Amino acid sequence: MSTRNVGRQRHSLDANLGGLLRRRRNVYGFLPKPIPEDILMKVLENATHVPSAGFTQDFDFVVVRDVATKKKIAAAAMEDEYVRQGVAMRGFISAAPVVIVPCGNKPRFEAKYGKPAEKNARLPWWLIDAGFASLALILSAFEEGLAASFVGAVDDDRIVSALGLPRNGSVMPLAVIPIGYRDPSEKPAWKSKRRSKGRIPRRPLAEVVHWDKW
Ligand SMILES: Cc1cc2nc3c(=O)[nH]c(=O)nc-3n(C[C@H](O)[C@H](O)[C@H](O)COP(=O)(O)O)c2cc1C
Repeated sequence: MSTRNVGRQRHSLDANLGGLLRRRRNVYGFLPKPIPEDILMKVLENATHVPSAGFTQDFDFVVVRDVATKKKIAAAAMEDEYVRQGVAMRGFISAAPVVIVPCGNKPRFEAKYGKPAEKNARLPWWLIDAGFASLALILSAFEEGLAASFVGAVDDDRIVSALGLPRNGSVMPLAVIPIGYRDPSEKPAWKSKRRSKGRIPRRPLAEVVHWDKW
C-alpha cells in the first residue's frame, strides 16, 4: 500500500469516529419502538471492548426492559424534574425501550489487586472503567442509528433497591443510560428554557491542550 493510500485510509477512519463523536449528544426523548435483539446485543458486545485496569473488566451493565423497574429507575433519576423544566419529553427514561445502568465492580478489581480496593488504587479505576464502557456503549448505539443519554444525577439507594444490587457498595451504579430511537420532536437540552444562554461552545484546543508543560 502506498503512503498516500495509508494516509487516505487513516483519514477515513478518523472521519468515521470523528463524525460519530460529533453526532452523539444527550438525547431526551425516544420513540416507543423496540430495539431489535441483535442490535442490542451488538451494542453491548462492542461496549466490552474497552481498556480496563489490569484487564480486570471491572464493570457490569444492568439492562432494564421490565416496565415497572424502568419506572423505578426513572424516579431515581428524577425524570419528572427534566419534564417539568422543559428539558425532556415525558417518559424519556421510563418509556425508553431499554435503560442500561453501568456499574463499577470493585470485587473484580480486588480479586487482582487486593482488598480493600481503595488502598490499592490511586484512583477508583472500577468506576473509571465503567465510564469507558459507558462511552463505548453510547457511541456504539449511535453507530447503530440509536440514541442515548448519560444521566449521572441519581439516587443511589433507589437504584440499588430497584435492581437488587449488593447493599455493601461493592457494585456501584454509575449512571442511567436510556437507549432507543430518537423521537424527532425531541430537542437538545441547550434549546430548552432552562439554558437561557443557548449553546455553550466547546472549549477550543488552545484552552484544554497543554504542550510539553502545563
Ligand atoms: C459524568 C456525567 C454526568 C452527567 N449527568 C447528567 C445528568 O444527571 N443529567 C443530564 O441531563 N445530563 C447529564 N450529563 C450529560 C451532560 O450534561 C452532557 O453530556 C453535556 O451537557 C454536553 O451535552 P451533550 O452530551 O448533549 O453534548 C452527564 C454527563 C456526564 C459525563
